[in-house]
Amino acid sequence: MSSSNSFQWPQLSQDFKEFLSTLPREKGFAKEPLYLYQGFWYEDVFLEGAISSQEHFQAEDSDVFVASTPKCGTTWLKAIAFALLNRRRNQAPDHPLLSNNPHDLVPYLEMDLYGENKALDIALFPSPRLLATHMPYSSLPKLIRSSGTKCKILYVARNPKDTLVSMRHFYTRVRMLDLMWAESFKLLCEGLSGYGPFWDHILGYWKQSLENPDRVLFLKYEDMKARPAAEVRRVAEFLGCPFSAEEVEAGEVDRILELCSFEVLSGLEVNKKGKLMVTGVDKSAFFRRGEVGDWKNHLSPEMAERIDRIVAEKLSGSGLFL
Ligand code: A3P
Repeated sequence: MSSSNSFQWPQLSQDFKEFLSTLPREKGFAKEPLYLYQGFWYEDVFLEGAISSQEHFQAEDSDVFVASTPKCGTTWLKAIAFALLNRRRNQAPDHPLLSNNPHDLVPYLEMDLYGENKALDIALFPSPRLLATHMPYSSLPKLIRSSGTKCKILYVARNPKDTLVSMRHFYTRVRMLDLMWAESFKLLCEGLSGYGPFWDHILGYWKQSLENPDRVLFLKYEDMKARPAAEVRRVAEFLGCPFSAEEVEAGEVDRILELCSFEVLSGLEVNKKGKLMVTGVDKSAFFRRGEVGDWKNHLSPEMAERIDRIVAEKLSGSGLFL
């Protein structure tokens, strides 16, 4: 395992490098800089995939997306959505989640399917396609946002203090993090994290979930931890595959929760070693503690207070609390 940098950074085309040189650029968490595009900060390779997906992705009514900013519980939600949508087809001991990392089953538009890094062919995906993205709502390919398309988006948000701690560990583990803790904290507070500012990302999906509740379901990591069965049932209903009375009676909700739990997924051989198919990130890096409130072990009271103040100010009037 190369723990310092397990991400395979692809070559960018000369044209794209020239385009990048026209964008505002800032230092991010990792050694690669961030570029500002349509109001959000991206690393170059993911920006290339994002723009390519904007140009080429053809949405289908039956598409389901898992969306988030990084380190908010995407791996968990990918597993849950996969298990729900495929529950009539797949049962243990042959369940695909027992032998595949959720990121290999549910690819990201801008990392796995589009751009120089592209290695998977979307034309080969069975319907309904279950896909993922970290792109902000306002930058999603037009057809996903179009009122004429009926595809659905599951969005997961997380308390920004826990997200920061998770992000910091992840970058230290799989990327060339070259920042001190205080510096990464400062960058996050300035909105300078991948796909940030995180508050605009979260608000974009939050507003859509209010305006189009049948298209966008807004979930919180903390709610999923506190009342997993209720949240999973909410996701199933939103996706149009609610649990039948017989399924509930037979313990199907608990079976899916168990299969997708931190303990089960992180304990599987397939998630303990090896790398993701396209990006080459260590699979085990997506499972750390899986708890609410770990920030208390890492942030000073002053840091916590500063993030809380920023979040309260940015979300003020939205009706959303994190
Ligand atoms: P921690 O670093 O706080 O442990 P993402 O999937 O968006 O990259 O987010 C990663 C975070 O989700 C990590 O948080 C990880 O441990 C946690 N996580 C991964 N799988 C999980 C699961 N099945 N249940 C709960 N949390 C999970």
